[in-house]
Amino acid sequence: MKGNSVIYSLFLSTSLFLTNCEKTNEPVKNNKIENLLSQMTLDEKIGQLNQYSIGAELTGPGAKEGINKIKYDHLKNGKVGSVLNLLGAKNGRETQKFVVEESRLGIPLITSYDVIHGYKTMFPIPLGESASWDLELMENTAAVAAKEAAAAGVMWTFAPMLDISRDPRWGRVMEGAGEDTYLGTEIGKARIRGFQGNDLSDVATIAACAKHFAGYGFSEGGRDYNNVYLGKHQLLNTILPPFKAAAETGVATFMNAFNDIDGVPSTANEYLLKDLLKEEWAYDGAVVSDWGSIAELVPHGVAKDSAEAAQMAITAGSDIDMEGYTYIRNLKQLVESGAINESLIDDAVRRVLKLKEDLGLLDDPYKYFDEDREKEVLLNPTHLALSREAGRKSIVLLKNEGDLLPLKAKNIAVIGPLAKDKDSPIGNWRAQGEKGSAISLYEGLTEALPDVNFSYAQGCKLSIGANDFAHEVEIENSDRSGFKEAVEVAKKSELVIMNLGEPAYMSGEARSRSEIGLPGLQLELLKEVYKVNKNIVLVLMNGRPLTLQWEAENIPAILEAWHLGSMAGHAIADVLTGKYNPSGKLPMTFPRSVGQIPTYYNHKMTGRPSTEPGMVFYSHNMDIENSPQYPFGFGLSYSTFEYSPVSLSKNEMNMGEEITVSIHVKNTSNVDGEEVVQLYIRDVVGSITRPVKELKGFKKLMIKAGESVQIDFEIGEEDLAFYRKDFTFGTEPGDFEVFVGTNSTDVQTATFKLN
Ligand code: NOJ
Repeated sequence: MKGNSVIYSLFLSTSLFLTNCEKTNEPVKNNKIENLLSQMTLDEKIGQLNQYSIGAELTGPGAKEGINKIKYDHLKNGKVGSVLNLLGAKNGRETQKFVVEESRLGIPLITSYDVIHGYKTMFPIPLGESASWDLELMENTAAVAAKEAAAAGVMWTFAPMLDISRDPRWGRVMEGAGEDTYLGTEIGKARIRGFQGNDLSDVATIAACAKHFAGYGFSEGGRDYNNVYLGKHQLLNTILPPFKAAAETGVATFMNAFNDIDGVPSTANEYLLKDLLKEEWAYDGAVVSDWGSIAELVPHGVAKDSAEAAQMAITAGSDIDMEGYTYIRNLKQLVESGAINESLIDDAVRRVLKLKEDLGLLDDPYKYFDEDREKEVLLNPTHLALSREAGRKSIVLLKNEGDLLPLKAKNIAVIGPLAKDKDSPIGNWRAQGEKGSAISLYEGLTEALPDVNFSYAQGCKLSIGANDFAHEVEIENSDRSGFKEAVEVAKKSELVIMNLGEPAYMSGEARSRSEIGLPGLQLELLKEVYKVNKNIVLVLMNGRPLTLQWEAENIPAILEAWHLGSMAGHAIADVLTGKYNPSGKLPMTFPRSVGQIPTYYNHKMTGRPSTEPGMVFYSHNMDIENSPQYPFGFGLSYSTFEYSPVSLSKNEMNMGEEITVSIHVKNTSNVDGEEVVQLYIRDVVGSITRPVKELKGFKKLMIKAGESVQIDFEIGEEDLAFYRKDFTFGTEPGDFEVFVGTNSTDVQTATFKLN
């Protein structure tokens, strides 16, 4: 840390603020911020609310033209409070030094970046990792992502994404925890704990961001950035609980969402940002806009120009303008003309300065910029080992007819465009995960099974030149020249492993799809191979639930392997060989067809449910059954588990009491295995219509072969509470049903009464 101390003393001598601090002999926290605030001009205050995306070149020589010139000048003059996409300890240090030494008050910058599922060591995409239902694991992977990011000079991530979504067409489902509010809440809290640790000023932790506030996962038709229509009960009961829990967990920041809700863009939504977040929930962190979302109030058609957009956003409670230029261009004039009160700006600035203080920047602006630490931390072997563990725990076994798995065959064909693909498993939102750096399935398998005779055929190509900024992900749709070779190798093999799915950039932001089957020629290839060899294990890699009707009916074994990150091939080989017994469960329903969407387990009954066979006038489609292909919570194991009936400690519960739900789960196989035991509850009659069941607890545990274990869940009043007809939160007396099972459909039931 030699270099640091030199620059740190420079900072001391150029910073008015710190000189003051020394005089007052280490003031209490708030005084520090108030002291600083009192020295700031209006321009400097507004600067703290301005966030730019900058690369390393910005403060270096020769990049002082056009928009870069504006950003350069603003950095120099204290008109930027935080930046995104500035990476690396060296670059960060140089830019920080420039800002600290050149600007009048020398207030350090915060650096930020989308660290979504790893920084350099890539972990499974969040949707995939959510399938592990392993909160400790997710906390650990977030902690490693934070450690790597912080070592590379990043202090703040725009994660976790807490958007509940029931629409797999929406490409961003890959970034969240799936369709369920309870699971999403628990996972969100775990990820925040992982990123932030116990002390934000620790250089192994970074600030997290609860995004996107709110409703973004309900974009109409699953089309990204689209409008959202929601009832207020749905907002309160389904969408907001993960955000409320994040605020309670101490998440450092919130990000608002691109969408409107019933006509009011989230970025200017006073009810969400002010009344709820900042007042009712007493949240004292900063709210950052999404990229340009304040400026987008103009195309949304609620603001006539950028000045009005700025006025609406700051009044609603958006503190930081990310790449929108609306605050830096308009807030001063808005204050001077009396259109807004300066106290609004002060409040926002306090929140930004608080984050700087919490990160430790006001004491040492250079603490995140240490090149030695950067070298030592990135891609550390322990991180890669954790990635492999997270990968295998995220895999979901969807089908295993005739016990095709674990692999026994000695002569195996590996076919498919993803089998040797070292890039797709890295997934979208890959931060600094290097292109082509994943272990492919073929590499994983051949290393795990040196005595097996493997043959390979690509069969067909998948994407052509896709990357995160490609206008569209182009899928190969006509070249069948590889089919022949695939059929030949399949014919000669005992068993075929087909590796099919979506390339990395087919899910993620702006990657919505109108059809969600296997893209391109893959299903056709699968059918051709199936004609000559029916012993097929289908390994899927994808960023969203897919429609798999033909595959589910015909293919004997199916493994959902998402985009698993750096060690994907090893993780999948661990499961295929039985070295690891699969334990993942779907965090999102797999529909049978696109027309079924939205299909999710915790729907309402409707006034017209199906009550007897042969009904006509009930809520359904004529051409497909109502049940999904694979329900929420579903996932098989190489073990088999038998559930006893459920027992309750009592049949009536008074307010304020608890009830214990008990069940025995027996591993009836001869292999040890982990099971996720799931607890669901239904409130039979409510003041508003209630879901047919809702997840309220789960336990993931190892059950040894032949062993039977008792699992207990405690249900308290909180588990039965919801936002009622009058929008107050609480319980309603009456009958409740309890369901315990291996997924959301396959359950044992009991009932009790709440008095
Ligand atoms: C837009 C995305 O919606 C948001 O999630 C992300 O954090 C920002 N861009 C910054 O990259």
